[in-house]
Amino acid sequence: MALAYAPSIETTPVRIRHRYDHFIGGRWVRSSGGETFPTVNPATEEELAQIAVGTAEDIDRAVAAARQAYEKYWRPMRPADRAKYVYRIARAITERSRELAVLETKDGGKPIKESRDFDVVQAAANFFYFAGWADKLRYALHGAQEPAPVGVVGSIVPWNFPLLMAAWKIAPAISCGNTVVLKPAETTPLTALLLAQICEEADLPPGVVNVVTGDGRTGAALVAHAGVDKIAFTGSTDVGKIIQKTLAGSRKRLTLELGGKAANIVFADAPLDQAIEGVVSGIYFNQGHVCCAGSRLLVQESVHDEVVEKLTARIETLRLGDPLDKNTDIGAINSLAQHAKISELIESGVAEGAVLHQQSCALPERGWFHRASFFTGVSQSHRIAREEIFGPVLSIMTFRTADEAIEKANNTPYGLSAGVWTDKGAKSMYVAQHLQAGVVWCSTFNQFDPSSPFGGYRESGFGREGGVAGLRPYLAV
Ligand code: NAI
Ligand code: MG
Repeated sequence: MALAYAPSIETTPVRIRHRYDHFIGGRWVRSSGGETFPTVNPATEEELAQIAVGTAEDIDRAVAAARQAYEKYWRPMRPADRAKYVYRIARAITERSRELAVLETKDGGKPIKESRDFDVVQAAANFFYFAGWADKLRYALHGAQEPAPVGVVGSIVPWNFPLLMAAWKIAPAISCGNTVVLKPAETTPLTALLLAQICEEADLPPGVVNVVTGDGRTGAALVAHAGVDKIAFTGSTDVGKIIQKTLAGSRKRLTLELGGKAANIVFADAPLDQAIEGVVSGIYFNQGHVCCAGSRLLVQESVHDEVVEKLTARIETLRLGDPLDKNTDIGAINSLAQHAKISELIESGVAEGAVLHQQSCALPERGWFHRASFFTGVSQSHRIAREEIFGPVLSIMTFRTADEAIEKANNTPYGLSAGVWTDKGAKSMYVAQHLQAGVVWCSTFNQFDPSSPFGGYRESGFGREGGVAGLRPYLAV
């Protein structure tokens, strides 16, 4: 049954140019190759703008600008003055938050309430947090006298949290005295370009932050450039492995934040209605385009049927549609390619014998959408239990004892996050201690704070972002 409701569309106007160049050395620079590609709104399939494809020559110019800024202005600057610039960027993000949220939603398809209340808020919070560290770095690392910056950082970010991932990379890097060349994802470059404009308006010395748009070739050129001292990458495990191979034996530093297949573990003694809310936000937040999504639900056998019944009712209430509608829960799938990948994995689940449950609402006529979905009757060998779907698709499995839950949760090549729902504090601690995951949420899910480190085990990558631990990759001791 579809729910009838009145839409409430976010109408804050944003200015989108027809064409965007790179931001290099404080200026907007045409790509040397002249090639461009469109970025579209996945909810309407309309073209928003033409984006420059960065060539190796563009990357070379950006790295040179970053190097010059590093030597000339940024490293020699008093840390307290550096902090003022970073605070200025943080304030500008706050002041322009509505505009950034609308742009993020148009370019990437995520619900406006998420870009407004999560992405932009967290992006500003990261700049505020790391600005505070700029003149206190000698207290950040035990035994280090006065840690020095690393140099020029190449940052490559994905399309699921475009502005936030740019903030996660830029804020700690520049607060520690490094300069940055950022390569946004191909489907969502617009908020990174607005962030470049914000840096320009904040009078950040030219070359401290550079943005070169493009695709995997542009990213590969950045990784391979001899003038880069550190690469910070968030994206797929496949590309993470390529980057690791490219950098093997080089002097470059590397941090990788890759995929996940997180377990959300629900014990029979958990407050089930609360747990269901955590399960829903764990998998349907941002259409499931979340590296730490709770994409495997491990539910204690005795409450399996009850949980399935509650979840069935709950997904029926999720509003799917126009991401600019403030009531929307499930927005558009970021790209046609991602839509196809999710469809293919759903088909594999059905073909392998799992049972598909979906909300029953109609899909919009235009744009790329997937209904909130979950599978029961999943076995650990199914592809939907092993592979990152990166869509609004949950795989439900059962367990009997805590140790069985731990074993199943850890039965994955990934290890980014996990969730535990139980009324018993001791059980919660026991399970959390035995889960091989960078972040374990107890009786909650997807909670973030700039002071809290985030990162993975195994194929989910290495290095930590956020908190004091998040300074380490950007400092030489
Ligand atoms: P991707 O890893 O190809 O893209 C991420 C970024 O890396 C983009 O900026 C891209 O241009 C860049 N890139 C691509 N090839 C590169 C190379 N050889 N060298 C340097 N940079 C390169 O991810 P994609 O293709 O967009 O998504 C594929 C799958 O990856 C998704 O379905 C999802 O399962 C997973 N993924 C996971 C993410 C996470 O946060 N863990 C984020 C994005 C995707
Ligand atoms: Mg787009």
